[in-house]
Formats: sequence, C-alpha cells, structure tokens
Amino acid sequence: MRTVYYTDRLILRVLKGRDAKLVCDYYQRNEAFLREWEPQRDADFFTRRGQRRDLAAEYRMIRREQMLKLWLFKREDPERVIGMISFTNLLYGDFCSCFLGYKLDQAEINRGYMTEALEYGIELMFRQYGLHRIEANIMPHNVRSLRVVEKLGFKQEGLARRYLKINGQWRDHIHMTLLNQQMEA
Ligand SMILES: CC(C)(COP(=O)(O)OP(=O)(O)OC[C@H]1O[C@@H](n2cnc3c(N)ncnc32)[C@H](O)[C@@H]1OP(=O)(O)O)[C@@H](O)C(=O)NCCC(=O)NCCS
Repeated sequence: MRTVYYTDRLILRVLKGRDAKLVCDYYQRNEAFLREWEPQRDADFFTRRGQRRDLAAEYRMIRREQMLKLWLFKREDPERVIGMISFTNLLYGDFCSCFLGYKLDQAEINRGYMTEALEYGIELMFRQYGLHRIEANIMPHNVRSLRVVEKLGFKQEGLARRYLKINGQWRDHIHMTLLNQQMEA
C-alpha cells in the first residue's frame, strides 16, 4: 500500500499509531481554531494515547480501502503536520461514493494549501479508487470551506437540516457534491 504522495508544495502521508505525536501536536496547537467547526472532543483525543488508538484503527480501515486519510506536511518542514484530508465511508458497487473531510493549521490558511491537497486527493478517489461521487457537508457560515469546494467544482445540492452535531449543537449543513463524469460516459 502506498503511504506517501507529493504535490508541488506538500507531502501527503498515511500515518500509523507510532506517528501519534505529530498528530497530537497538531490538535493541541489548533484546539481553539478547530472548536467552532468540529464535534466536541474528550480529553483523551488530545493525548498521544488517544491519537495512537485512533490512528491504528484508521490504518486498518485504510488497508481495507474503507477510507483514506492523508496528513499534510510542507515539503520544507516534513516533521510538522499542517492539516489533514479524509475520504470516509467509502462505498462501492452501484454507489461508489464517500464523505470528504479536511482541516488545516490556523497558521497556514489562505495560501491555497487545502485546495492543492484536495485536488490531488480527489484525483486519487476518482482514478484509483474508482469512485463516482464525493460529498462534503459544510455549515453555511464556513465561508472559507465553501470557497475551497467551489474552487474544486463541487455543486450545491441542498440544505441538510441539523445534519451534524458540531461544538455541541445540531447544525444545518450545505450539501455539496462532486461527480466523476468520466464514469458516466
Ligand atoms: C477550510 C480550510 C481547510 C481552508 O483551508 P485553506 O488552505 O485556507 O484554503 P485555500 O487557501 O485553498 O482557500 C481558501 C479560500 O477561502 C477564501 N477566504 C478566506 N477567508 C474568507 C472570507 N472571510 N470570506 C470569503 N472567502 C474567504 C480565500 O480567499 C480562498 O479563496 P481564493 O483562493 O479564491 O482566494 C481552513 O480554513 C480550515 O482548516 N478551517 C477550519 C476547519 C474547517 O472548517 N474544515 C472544513 C469543515 S467543512
């Protein structure tokens, strides 16, 4: 299984349990920045033990091609995680669909890093995993995130009411999707 990919400015890596410190450092640095956009986390989430457990479980799912999570590093700084992209709930057969997730380090936003990482990840999902549809659900006031998927060609399909519990509250999300039209030919 391939675990490292490269874009112009980034390294995209599958991480294992033994890499927990890198992820733990990222979440500790960004706890306040991410709070508004994510589910509530318990204290264990910010520990090496918690991240080691999560990374090990995810690695097993990645090997079975049930998900793909790639952690982002700048090429010139390969020891510091600056974000993550994830493709989860991969379903095949006549559905060929998945959910998209992503987050960056607050210190690195607005430099096009997320768009660069997702362009690459989406190509992997469409060409290598053979998916037809990628679904992103975004709160209406998350303008940075909406802009990212718009740049990548996602289209709005509607509003999912009280779709996800974010920071302790069930919040409406805009349902955005990208289709692999080459599969329809
Ligand atoms: C969403 C997120 C991943 C974006 O990462 P990023 O690397 O900054 O994204 P990019 O630089 O590729 O693109 C950001 C775009 O938003 C635009 N933007 C930034 N602030 C904005 C604002 N207040 N209003 C409108 N557009 C804004 C930028 O100008 C840029 O668009 P452009 O290229 O047309 O100029 C990052 O902000 C983040 O981690 N947020 C917290 C977690 C999160 O929201 N995750 C997604 C949950 S759905």
